[in-house]
Amino acid sequence: MGVPIPQSFAMPGMLLFSLFIFPQFAVGGITRHYHFDIMYQNVSRLCHTKHRVTVNGQFPGPRIVAREGDRLLIKVVNHVQNNISIHWHGIRQLRSGWADGPAYVTQCPIQTGQSYVYNYTIVGQRGTLFWHAHISWLRSTVYGAIIILPKHGAPYPFSKPYKEVPIIFGEWWNADTEAVITQALQSGGGPNVSDAYTMNGLPGPLYNCSAKDTFKLKVKPGKTYLLRLINAALNDELFFSIANHTLTVVEVDAIYVKPFETETILIAPGQTTNVLLKTKSHYPNATFFMNARPYATGQGTFDNSTVAGILEYEAPPHFLHSMNKISLYKPILPALNDTAFATNFSNRLRSLATSQFPANVPHKVDRRLFFTIGLGTSPCQSNQTCQGPNGTRFAASVNNVSFNLPTTTSLLQSHYSGQSNGVYSPNFPISPLIPFNYTGTPPNNTMVSNGTKLMVLPFNTSVEVVMQDTSILGAESHPLHLHGFNLFVVGQGFGNFDANKDPAKYNLVDPIERNTVGVPSGGWVAIRFLADNPGVWFMHCHLEVHTSWGLKMAWLVLDGKLPHQKLLPPPADLPKC
Ligand code: C2O
Repeated sequence: MGVPIPQSFAMPGMLLFSLFIFPQFAVGGITRHYHFDIMYQNVSRLCHTKHRVTVNGQFPGPRIVAREGDRLLIKVVNHVQNNISIHWHGIRQLRSGWADGPAYVTQCPIQTGQSYVYNYTIVGQRGTLFWHAHISWLRSTVYGAIIILPKHGAPYPFSKPYKEVPIIFGEWWNADTEAVITQALQSGGGPNVSDAYTMNGLPGPLYNCSAKDTFKLKVKPGKTYLLRLINAALNDELFFSIANHTLTVVEVDAIYVKPFETETILIAPGQTTNVLLKTKSHYPNATFFMNARPYATGQGTFDNSTVAGILEYEAPPHFLHSMNKISLYKPILPALNDTAFATNFSNRLRSLATSQFPANVPHKVDRRLFFTIGLGTSPCQSNQTCQGPNGTRFAASVNNVSFNLPTTTSLLQSHYSGQSNGVYSPNFPISPLIPFNYTGTPPNNTMVSNGTKLMVLPFNTSVEVVMQDTSILGAESHPLHLHGFNLFVVGQGFGNFDANKDPAKYNLVDPIERNTVGVPSGGWVAIRFLADNPGVWFMHCHLEVHTSWGLKMAWLVLDGKLPHQKLLPPPADLPKC
């Protein structure tokens, strides 16, 4: 499963030459072509063989390997009955918003028999990201790793690993996830939960009928491995640990961090974490479980099963055929609702913040925003019985707006063509219309409002958003993902945000920079970003069920004055609705 690390072959002369020819992509990247056939494939897990939507018949999907500065041309051809779109999660998409992928936000979906070429350049990013379907719940089987290697000759800011191993977590459903979410939205109740978690598509030996589908990582003693961990699960944050081994966190969301050691990591859907695994110096004659199971803070049911992979040392020759493995070690993971661990882990994450990899956190703020994040309810139609709280329907919102996507165009097209009338309004609230005790006793009226409201930002606005979890239907952690930007996490805390006291404690020196941040259960998180990328950018909870219920909104970043500050025109093959 290792990714070979190509040797650097850039010679000094070549380097100067390419700098001269391609000033904007110093050390000129190359163009890489990929072909994604969206097609059905039979996938067998847990003794169930299922007809599933896949890319190229692979589950998980193909891995994209590129280098910082490269341009990617990925032709996606849709051979299935469902509409599809693919999002390149965490890629900045500078001026290439048409390639971002969320359906009805930056493009209409690719219909059956149609195709679309995603065309973008990776600028100023290196590390682990991933791609996934960005329409309904098709992400359950349509996802894969994106590995961005540093430019030729650029070393990692940590010791060079012997091998690199991507590990992508997912959720396996015996049921068709399209049916699961359709049924939930009809009934207004919570959706059914998954049947297993997976590592590289494999549930592992702790599930019935699954031992043969176990991810095995074969290692040599005394080496350092770089594990590229990705959480592509639909609805669950995960703890991950390897028995009797310590992990050194070196990167999250394609940003280098100050290295720190931990037995366990926490990874939310939408997040990636690179860790160094140093193997034992001598052959241990044992195997070690690598387990992941959920961190769950909500009130509803969830899949509380455990995926296990196996870390296996290759035996030295004299051990072969001589004896069986004598020991099997299992890691101890935090309790399912261990919010203290979650807080401590996120507090340890710091940007590397060196001159080469600076933390460019905005120090002055042009727009201060306060968003409430959480669940609520919406009314049940009079002739129906609904299975949400007190006979209502589950809903979710940002500042009490449960977001509706357009259905006959995309937000970006409607903006670009100057025809926003009837599609969206540019008036997303800057704070909740009716303040309340967000983390205290729930208000009497839990109903959300609905709308398609965008927050409009002039080019280069620096933004601070305090995202405040609400306990309207019980406190819950929400991994919020921002498209088109990285955000800096300048502060977090429990209870209600205090605008008089809390900003004094902000970290403006080495805050973690990432694309998906957990809003703490019963707390708040303060983020900053610079709106230097024109286009329409989605922001949503990466728990798919919450996105389906409306926990999403979009930013409209206007063009700047200069030519290179403008969104490029749409490509000719942009799908039609
Ligand atoms: Cu990874 Cu909008 O999603």
